[in-house]
Amino acid sequence: MKKLKKTGLFFCVLVAILIPTMSWAGATSSLDITGPCYEMLSPTNSATEMAVTWWDALEVNTASVQYSTSSNFSSGVFSVAATLSKNDTTNGYSAFAATMTNLTADTTYYYRVGNVTAWSDTNSFTTGDAASASSLSIMYLGDAQYASYNAAVEEYATWGSLINGAYTKFPNLDFALMGGDLVSLGQSAVDWQRFYNNASPVFSKLPVLAVPGNHESNATSGKPELFLKLFDLPTNGPTGFEEEFYSYDYGNCHIVCLSSSIFLDEQLAAGTMTEADFDTIKQWIASDLADSDATWKIVVMHHPAYAVVSDDTAVDVLANWAPVFVNAQVDLVLCGHQHVYMRTEAIKGVTYVMGVSGSKFYAPATVSYSECMIGYTSNYEIINADSNSLTVTAYDSTGTSLDTVTIKPKNRTITPTWPEDIVGDLNGDGSITSADVTLLISAILTNAAYSTVMDVNDDGKVNICDAHQLSLSLL
Ligand SMILES: [Fe+2]
Repeated sequence: MKKLKKTGLFFCVLVAILIPTMSWAGATSSLDITGPCYEMLSPTNSATEMAVTWWDALEVNTASVQYSTSSNFSSGVFSVAATLSKNDTTNGYSAFAATMTNLTADTTYYYRVGNVTAWSDTNSFTTGDAASASSLSIMYLGDAQYASYNAAVEEYATWGSLINGAYTKFPNLDFALMGGDLVSLGQSAVDWQRFYNNASPVFSKLPVLAVPGNHESNATSGKPELFLKLFDLPTNGPTGFEEEFYSYDYGNCHIVCLSSSIFLDEQLAAGTMTEADFDTIKQWIASDLADSDATWKIVVMHHPAYAVVSDDTAVDVLANWAPVFVNAQVDLVLCGHQHVYMRTEAIKGVTYVMGVSGSKFYAPATVSYSECMIGYTSNYEIINADSNSLTVTAYDSTGTSLDTVTIKPKNRTITPTWPEDIVGDLNGDGSITSADVTLLISAILTNAAYSTVMDVNDDGKVNICDAHQLSLSLL
């Protein structure tokens, strides 16, 4: 069970989010949105559908998407009315979403959004065969957010160049995944506009799914409110947490997308979730993974379970969700948040890859479970999977390969046996080091999730006495 004792942390986060948001809000007016723009595609869990979102001028309240296999819309034109997701009078834009239906596999479609007054440019995408594809190719992008507000335009342009280069190098991608912290100020329309300026040129053609990071959270509700309004994601998640949690199937691959930011306790403090919801969500993750018989099971979330540097949220993810991933025999977990590239060894069968696609970097560190760590390098990951193997290759912005790993299919009819958990080995790497002491102190200070490996003196409690005893064991 998840414990609530992070009120102090919540207010620190609240202040950290509010201060830049307030200063930004006073300095900004209209975003000069005069017509349909910023189209973004997302797949749905129907193989015959494709969702599209976009912005238009504030005064536009009704819109639609038109699509056809004819590039000039001369025949066979279909039209779907859009939903108005947001009408932002402060920043001067309307946000829309619509879902194209009755699509045929392996077919190129042309589409435009808007209305008879003004249509967007014509974009195109090519459907895959999500229902029965025997292979797939995906791009993963860790944190895209900028490091400096004053250099945000330039930093996003650099990021845009990276994803455009990736799509040029790998034009046959089926879709992309983003691991959260797409923007720095999650409730700032200015930030999202900067993101869209560089994301839409690629993601108006290549469908993308995303999870929210801590920077997408709204300090008032703890929910990633603008993220949820601007994206149109699968809605098969737990009740009350749809689109924060969801899963998506493509061919022989099952992808589970999670909002690890719930462990920041912002939603708990705001009353948008309860203590019991932690268990409900954990059960949803376990059931969703168990219900899939796909060859490959991939998890996407923002925070790592296996951190590069000590992180309170990672402690919670490690204690609460990592055992679920092991039980479900997950193959690959994609994450970000710590602004370093890091790939772990397979830990109880699960390989963790941390990516960063933007230009905000933190320093690498030495951790025992890392098989590859690269600092200060923007990167993207290409994941190719067929019935025989799943390969993850990291590339830098020039398209140079940085790291690669190949994973073989698991026989999930057999439950593997792993060495017994070692009391005090919080990171589960098989030995007790100072990293475990750091993790335990962090867990104690934040009253993070209890696990038996934390109870070093076996008195039924986790407190500073356990950290003391664990540190003595290193002498
Ligand atoms: Fe983050």
